[in-house]
Amino acid sequence: MQNIFSHQLITLRRRKNLSQNDLARKLYVSRQSISKWENGETEPGIDKLITLSEILGVDLDFLLLGKENLNDLIIKISDLKKSFTQPVLNGITLNIYGKDRIALLGSNGAGKSTLAKMIYGELTPDSGSITSHVNNTDSLNVMPQEDVLMGDLKVIEHVQLAALIDQVYSKAFIAQMISKFRLEKQKNTYVSKLSGGQKRRLSLLLALLRESKLLLLDEPTVGMDLSSIDFFWRYLDHIGGCVITITHDFNQIDKYFSRVLLLKDGKIAQDVAVDTIHSHNQTIEQWYRQYNDGEAQIQ
Ligand SMILES: Nc1ncnc2c1ncn2[C@@H]1O[C@H](COP(=O)(O)OP(=O)(O)O)[C@@H](O)[C@H]1O
Ligand SMILES: [Mg+2]
Repeated sequence: MQNIFSHQLITLRRRKNLSQNDLARKLYVSRQSISKWENGETEPGIDKLITLSEILGVDLDFLLLGKENLNDLIIKISDLKKSFTQPVLNGITLNIYGKDRIALLGSNGAGKSTLAKMIYGELTPDSGSITSHVNNTDSLNVMPQEDVLMGDLKVIEHVQLAALIDQVYSKAFIAQMISKFRLEKQKNTYVSKLSGGQKRRLSLLLALLRESKLLLLDEPTVGMDLSSIDFFWRYLDHIGGCVITITHDFNQIDKYFSRVLLLKDGKIAQDVAVDTIHSHNQTIEQWYRQYNDGEAQIQ
């Protein structure tokens, strides 16, 4: 007889495009074991259950009971619409979870920044809703596409001010962050006199001063030099909480993200786990070209 677990296992395995054999290999069990679990004849031990939930990308509760862990759901977006002179977002429905590492992709003008601005509350939707379990004043960090900096402050003053506001002020911490973000030589320079790349590094530093439940980065590496870009990606790997990044750095998405969203024609045209793309032997760039540009799949 089928129980909830067997039902979840079948549904989630298919959603990941895994055969019973694929899953058996990943779990180091026989295909017959998977078949028995799916028929409700036996159940896996706890260690296999934990590995299963990791492979399938869901919480244990969801795997066993079919219930989403609501504590983990941080943003729920329903049928969100926004037009300027033309419709830009035309019915976005999306759940974002606390552990998500999301790369939000789409062509220029697709509406990525517009969606981001609605998530952090800078724009209001024409219709639809965003339910957020993130407190915008103390657990949401944002790096907007256009730097929002105060040009008539010196770099160090700017960092000090932001650290005070974020309640993380300490001289040592500020010095450490300025040095980490390679702005030591510029610390007494007026922000208005920084180069584009230096301004980007400062914006990033300011977005990362405090811990966050949700970090939203809109094209963070545009304008940075190569070593800053490398630094950025390595740094990102050590950040806790949910991260949503709008980026065109396809080579990095494979390494640092777990989920890819494609915004196209005002909708979330694709919402896929990076593992699923890899299980089709595709790179993110090939996948993007296939679904965004409609190019034939490279065999
Ligand atoms: N404040 C605004 N007023 C009018 N049109 C806007 C405004 N913001 C964005 N747009 C338009 O909405 C579309 C989506 O913009 P945007 O969200 O910035 O795209 P993306 O970030 O994906 O490149 C573009 O056509 C842009 O010109
Ligand atoms: Mg944008």
